[in-house]
Order: sequence, then structure tokens, then C-alpha cells
Amino acid sequence: MQTIVITGANRGIGLALSREFTEKGWHVIATCRNPSSASALQALANKGQLEIFQCDVSSASETAALCDALSGKPIDVLVNNAGIMGGEHQDLDDMDYEAWASTMDINVLAPFRISTSLLPCLRLSTNPRIITISSQMGAFGKVMGTGQYAYRSSKAAVSKVMQVMALQLANEGIIVCPVHPGWVQTDMGGPSATITTAESAAGLYKLIDGLTMEKSGRFWTWDGNEHVW
Ligand SMILES: NC(=O)c1ccc[n+]([C@@H]2O[C@H](COP(=O)([O-])OP(=O)(O)OC[C@H]3O[C@@H](n4cnc5c(N)ncnc54)[C@H](OP(=O)(O)O)[C@@H]3O)[C@@H](O)[C@H]2O)c1
Repeated sequence: MQTIVITGANRGIGLALSREFTEKGWHVIATCRNPSSASALQALANKGQLEIFQCDVSSASETAALCDALSGKPIDVLVNNAGIMGGEHQDLDDMDYEAWASTMDINVLAPFRISTSLLPCLRLSTNPRIITISSQMGAFGKVMGTGQYAYRSSKAAVSKVMQVMALQLANEGIIVCPVHPGWVQTDMGGPSATITTAESAAGLYKLIDGLTMEKSGRFWTWDGNEHVW
């Protein structure tokens, strides 16, 4: 049985991924900030293949505790999913700098910290993959709208971080890819988004399951197409 770790798994895309991988027979390690209130995850855990761990990804100590708890266990896939939009005040004439720093912390530094901290577990897998849910909103090759400086810059940064990590880990056979999950109907994506969490998760499952070294270090969409950087 393959094992996947998913951050921010209590709602939205993370919850749908937890459901999708559980249904496909994987062992799912679902992390979230507040396990006691994660009722949808708890319902999935009752089916037996899913374990819930507490992890606020912005906390170095909670990340270390998660990695200690998983020490010695092979992890086949890490999905860095937890992320935030960065709040209402991120425009030319209205910038909340503390919120911007916090957005960078959660969307960029945390995926780096978790990925590097879990490398010992990933190295125990025969097919290790690190997937980071980035966004088309951070792509330089796609001009779409204005504002949302904090979010856009964080996703541009995390895509670059993952590209470099892919290069550095290639000789160990560890696949690293940033992924755009689609415009998804979640609290973040809103009701007008074009796809459901189930559609996004089904596409991401297929993509992740079929990843090869040749696809590492490239930016993918949820439906298996290559995205411009
Ligand atoms: N929805 C879209 O259209 C879309 C498009 C492109 C990219 N994305 C990306 O996809 C990922 C998931 O987004 P979503 O749409 O599912 O958003 P969402 O519904 O707002 O869910 C965000 C998830 O991240 C968790 N999270 C936030 N900060 C965290 C922290 N410090 N530690 C641990 N977990 C934290 C949240 O946990 P709490 O419940 O505890 O807050 C929640 O589980 C994000 O990285 C997002 O940027 C989404």
C-alpha cells in the first residue's frame, strides 16, 4: 500500500484529495491545524486507511513533531496543499505587510520546510514524489488580472522553489512538481469556480499516479497539461 501525506486536509482540495486517495486504496496521512474539529476527515478516518495528524504548517515545532511521528516510515507522496489567499488588503494603495509576510510563510517557507524535513521518509520510498499545490496566479507566462500581490508572489516563489528542489533531488530519483489544481469551488476559489473539488482531486490523482522522472521539475495542471512558468 502506498502512503501519501496531505497538508491542510480538513477542507477544500486537501479534503477531496484525502477522499480520492483513500478510495484508491492508499494509506493517507492527513494533516490539519485542528484535528478535533475536522469532522469530515474523522469520518474518512473511521474507514481505517486514513490517519489524522495535527500540523500548523507555519509552525516549525509542529512540523518537526509530525516528522518525528513519521520517522522510519516510507512516504511515497507528499502533497503540500495547505495555503492561504492572504487577506483583503493586498493592492497598490492598500497593503497589509504583516499579512503578506504570513502568506509567504505559509505558502512558500512551509512547503520547503515540510518537504526537506520529510526527505528521510521520502528516501525510503521506491517512487518518491513531492507535489506542491501552486497556482496559475503565480505564473509569469500568464497575465491574469491585477492586485492580490501577496498571493501571486507567494505562488510564483513556491513554484521556483520546487523547480530548484527538483533539480537538486533528481539524482536521488525524487520527483518534485508544482501543480495548478484548476479554479476549484472551495472557500478560497468561491462558488463561481469552474470545477468541483472532486474533479480536481480525480485529475490530480491521475497526474500524481503517472508521474515519472522525465516530468519532474515541470509545472503541471490538474488535468495533466504542462503549465507555463
Ligand atoms: N481553489 C482554487 O481555485 C485554487 C486555485 C489555485 C490554487 N489553489 C491552492 O490550493 C490549495 C488548497 O486551496 P483550497 O482552495 O482548498 O483552499 P481552502 O478551501 O481555503 O482550504 C485551505 C486549507 O489550507 C489549510 N491551511 C491554511 N493555513 C494553514 C496552516 N498554517 N497550517 C495548516 N493548514 C493550513 C486550511 O486549514 P484551516 O481549515 O485550519 O484554515 C484548509 O485546510 C492552496 O494552496 C491554494 O492556494 C486553490
